[in-house]
Amino acid sequence: MNKTLLPLLGLVAALFVGTDASAQSKTDPPAEIKALLEKNICLTCHKVNERLVGPAYTDVAKKKYKPEQIVELIYKPKPSNWPGYPPMAPMTQVPKEDAMKIAKWIVSLNAPAKKK
Ligand code: HEC
Repeated sequence: MNKTLLPLLGLVAALFVGTDASAQSKTDPPAEIKALLEKNICLTCHKVNERLVGPAYTDVAKKKYKPEQIVELIYKPKPSNWPGYPPMAPMTQVPKEDAMKIAKWIVSLNAPAKKK
Protein backbone atom coordinates (compact mmCIF):
# COMPACT_ATOMS: atom_id res chain seq x y z
CA MET A 1 0.00 0.00 0.00
CA ASN A 2 2.69 2.43 1.03
CA LYS A 3 4.73 1.65 -2.02
CA THR A 4 2.00 2.63 -4.42
CA LEU A 5 0.78 5.53 -2.38
CA LEU A 6 4.05 7.44 -2.19
CA PRO A 7 4.62 8.09 -5.89
CA LEU A 8 0.96 8.86 -6.18
CA LEU A 9 1.24 11.52 -3.51
CA GLY A 10 4.20 12.97 -5.36
CA LEU A 11 2.17 13.17 -8.53
CA VAL A 12 -0.73 14.83 -6.77
CA ALA A 13 1.68 17.33 -5.25
CA ALA A 14 3.25 18.04 -8.64
CA LEU A 15 -0.15 18.57 -10.19
CA PHE A 16 -1.02 20.95 -7.44
CA VAL A 17 2.11 23.01 -7.90
CA GLY A 18 1.16 23.29 -11.56
CA THR A 19 -2.23 24.80 -10.91
CA ASP A 20 -2.67 28.51 -10.57
CA ALA A 21 -4.76 28.37 -7.44
CA SER A 22 -2.16 26.73 -5.24
CA ALA A 23 0.76 28.58 -6.81
CA GLN A 24 -1.12 31.75 -6.08
CA SER A 25 -1.30 31.04 -2.38
CA LYS A 26 2.33 29.98 -2.39
CA THR A 27 3.51 33.21 -3.96
CA ASP A 28 0.88 35.43 -2.44
CA PRO A 29 2.74 38.58 -1.48
CA PRO A 30 3.34 39.22 2.21
CA ALA A 31 0.88 41.75 3.62
CA GLU A 32 3.38 44.59 3.53
CA ILE A 33 4.20 44.04 -0.15
CA LYS A 34 0.59 43.52 -1.08
CA ALA A 35 -0.26 46.87 0.49
CA LEU A 36 2.51 48.55 -1.50
CA LEU A 37 1.39 46.92 -4.74
CA GLU A 38 -2.14 48.06 -4.06
CA LYS A 39 -1.16 51.57 -3.03
CA ASN A 40 0.96 52.02 -6.14
CA ILE A 41 -1.73 50.43 -8.36
CA CYS A 42 0.65 47.78 -9.70
CA LEU A 43 -2.07 45.18 -9.23
CA THR A 44 -4.25 46.92 -11.79
CA CYS A 45 -1.95 45.50 -14.44
CA HIS A 46 0.05 42.77 -12.72
CA LYS A 47 -0.81 39.53 -11.04
CA VAL A 48 1.69 37.47 -9.14
CA ASN A 49 1.79 34.45 -11.42
CA GLU A 50 -0.57 35.13 -14.27
CA ARG A 51 -0.40 37.46 -17.22
CA LEU A 52 -2.78 40.40 -16.88
CA VAL A 53 -2.04 43.62 -18.77
CA GLY A 54 1.60 43.21 -17.84
CA PRO A 55 3.65 40.06 -17.23
CA ALA A 56 3.26 37.95 -14.09
CA TYR A 57 5.77 38.91 -11.42
CA THR A 58 6.93 35.31 -11.38
CA ASP A 59 7.85 35.74 -15.06
CA VAL A 60 9.63 39.01 -14.33
CA ALA A 61 11.53 37.13 -11.61
CA LYS A 62 12.76 34.60 -14.18
CA LYS A 63 14.73 37.37 -15.87
CA LYS A 64 16.99 37.37 -12.82
CA TYR A 65 17.22 41.11 -12.44
CA LYS A 66 18.95 42.67 -9.49
CA PRO A 67 16.58 44.67 -7.25
CA GLU A 68 18.25 47.89 -8.44
CA GLN A 69 17.45 47.00 -12.05
CA ILE A 70 13.81 46.39 -11.23
CA VAL A 71 13.57 49.72 -9.44
CA GLU A 72 15.02 51.33 -12.55
CA LEU A 73 12.51 49.50 -14.76
CA ILE A 74 9.61 50.67 -12.60
CA TYR A 75 10.67 54.27 -13.18
CA LYS A 76 11.72 53.69 -16.76
CA PRO A 77 10.13 50.59 -18.28
CA LYS A 78 11.67 49.02 -21.34
CA PRO A 79 8.74 47.64 -23.35
CA SER A 80 11.21 45.98 -25.72
CA ASN A 81 11.88 43.49 -22.88
CA TRP A 82 8.32 42.27 -23.22
CA PRO A 83 7.30 41.75 -26.83
CA GLY A 84 3.59 41.22 -27.17
CA TYR A 85 2.71 43.41 -24.21
CA PRO A 86 1.58 47.02 -24.30
CA PRO A 87 4.17 49.40 -22.89
CA MET A 88 4.05 50.05 -19.16
CA ALA A 89 3.75 53.69 -18.17
CA PRO A 90 6.70 54.96 -16.15
CA MET A 91 5.71 54.83 -12.48
CA THR A 92 7.81 57.74 -11.28
CA GLN A 93 5.43 58.53 -8.43
CA VAL A 94 6.35 55.34 -6.57
CA PRO A 95 8.57 56.19 -3.58
CA LYS A 96 12.04 54.72 -3.99
CA GLU A 97 11.71 52.86 -0.71
CA ASP A 98 8.49 51.19 -1.87
CA ALA A 99 9.98 50.37 -5.24
CA MET A 100 12.99 48.72 -3.61
CA LYS A 101 10.81 46.58 -1.33
CA ILE A 102 8.69 45.48 -4.27
CA ALA A 103 11.81 44.80 -6.34
CA LYS A 104 13.35 42.60 -3.65
CA TRP A 105 10.14 40.67 -3.37
CA ILE A 106 9.96 40.12 -7.14
CA VAL A 107 13.54 38.83 -7.10
CA SER A 108 12.64 36.45 -4.28
CA LEU A 109 9.89 34.91 -6.43
CA ASN A 110 12.50 33.28 -8.59
CA ALA A 111 13.77 31.05 -5.81
CA PRO A 112 10.81 28.64 -5.48
CA ALA A 113 9.99 28.75 -9.19
CA LYS A 114 13.50 27.67 -10.18
CA LYS A 115 13.28 24.30 -8.45
CA LYS A 116 10.98 22.89 -11.14
C1 HEC B 1 -1.08 50.41 -16.66
C2 HEC B 1 -0.61 49.05 -16.43
C3 HEC B 1 0.58 48.83 -15.52
C4 HEC B 1 0.78 49.30 -14.25
C5 HEC B 1 -0.11 50.20 -13.42
C6 HEC B 1 2.04 48.74 -13.80
N1 HEC B 1 2.59 47.96 -14.77
FE1 HEC B 1 4.38 47.00 -14.70
N2 HEC B 1 4.17 46.43 -16.64
C7 HEC B 1 3.06 46.65 -17.42
C8 HEC B 1 3.30 46.13 -18.75
C9 HEC B 1 2.31 46.18 -19.90
C10 HEC B 1 4.61 45.59 -18.73
C11 HEC B 1 5.36 44.93 -19.91
C12 HEC B 1 5.79 45.94 -20.93
C13 HEC B 1 6.82 46.88 -20.40
O1 HEC B 1 7.74 46.47 -19.66
O2 HEC B 1 6.72 48.07 -20.74
C14 HEC B 1 5.13 45.79 -17.38
C15 HEC B 1 6.39 45.40 -16.94
C16 HEC B 1 6.82 45.46 -15.63
C17 HEC B 1 8.08 44.94 -15.15
C18 HEC B 1 9.13 44.21 -16.00
C19 HEC B 1 10.13 45.18 -16.53
C20 HEC B 1 11.09 44.55 -17.51
O3 HEC B 1 11.55 45.26 -18.40
O4 HEC B 1 11.37 43.35 -17.41
C21 HEC B 1 8.14 45.21 -13.82
C22 HEC B 1 9.27 44.87 -12.86
C23 HEC B 1 6.92 45.91 -13.47
N3 HEC B 1 6.15 46.05 -14.60
C24 HEC B 1 6.62 46.34 -12.21
C25 HEC B 1 5.55 47.15 -11.90
C26 HEC B 1 5.33 47.73 -10.60
C27 HEC B 1 6.19 47.48 -9.38
C28 HEC B 1 4.21 48.47 -10.69
C29 HEC B 1 3.60 49.36 -9.62
C30 HEC B 1 4.47 50.35 -9.05
C31 HEC B 1 3.72 48.36 -12.06
N4 HEC B 1 4.56 47.55 -12.76
C32 HEC B 1 2.58 48.97 -12.55
C33 HEC B 1 1.90 47.31 -17.04
C34 HEC B 1 1.73 47.99 -15.85
